[in-house]
Amino acid sequence: MVVSSVGDFYDALAADYHLIFPDWDASMARQAAALDGLVRARLGAGPHRVLDCSCGIGTQALGLAGVGHRVVGGDLSPAAVARATAEAASRGVELPVAVADMRALPYRATAFDVVVCADNSLPHLLTADDVRTALVGMRRVLRDDGLLVLSVRDYDEIRAARPTSTSPQVSTTAQGRVITFQLWHWHDDGERYDLEHFQVIPAEGGGWEVRVRRTAYWALTRGELSAAVADAGFAEVSWHDPADSGFYQPVLTARRVP
Ligand SMILES: C[S@@+](CC[C@H](N)C(=O)[O-])C[C@H]1O[C@@H](n2cnc3c(N)ncnc32)[C@H](O)[C@@H]1O
Repeated sequence: MVVSSVGDFYDALAADYHLIFPDWDASMARQAAALDGLVRARLGAGPHRVLDCSCGIGTQALGLAGVGHRVVGGDLSPAAVARATAEAASRGVELPVAVADMRALPYRATAFDVVVCADNSLPHLLTADDVRTALVGMRRVLRDDGLLVLSVRDYDEIRAARPTSTSPQVSTTAQGRVITFQLWHWHDDGERYDLEHFQVIPAEGGGWEVRVRRTAYWALTRGELSAAVADAGFAEVSWHDPADSGFYQPVLTARRVP
């Protein structure tokens, strides 16, 4: 099976997305604790009105709702949104979710205290215009002094090393062990890459089924992303390393200035 394009990629991955994590529920809890810590340190305990504008199947949105915030989710992928809705219902968590492109957020101005865009979602936008449109839109839906929380891969290191693959992640399921890894194909500009996402899944009869999905990323460095965020009307742009935040990726926080 081969799938391409961002929406198709995540539609095809939605049912298997949790298999990226050795234990999805444990990851949700860890990520929510780390993000909640960053939010509390800047806005107080809340509860806060949070938009997760690339919620996927709900890894951050479900956890943040679970610790008491009033969370709304949006995502480009209808299948991911459907799964997030089902996961919220099965956990008794209130999480309204809609299919929405982060470049055209269908929410009223100043509706949220916090906008989350986590786990390398923004780098799916491949042009400076698209990144700016998305960031300006996130600013629009934040109240004055509201907080942007953005997490990305550590592209400063990655751009220097230009790796061509990721290490295999192994998760244990009822059918046996599932192996996930990626192959990366760098563009000539040295900044963007096409990604092939492999999942190797136990098949009946002792064999393996290989699922391959394709998408692309723009490996924005911290400096480039900070400049884009400031240019879109945010202040207090700062980066939080995993060792400090407890989140597994570098996290950028910034305030909407009036
Ligand atoms: C790596 S996944 C992370 C999902 C979720 N935050 C998580 O950690 O489980 C990236 C997500 O960004 C979403 N995405 C990509 N481009 C988008 C866009 N233009 N607008 C909204 N969502 C988008 C994808 O559909 C996908 O769900």
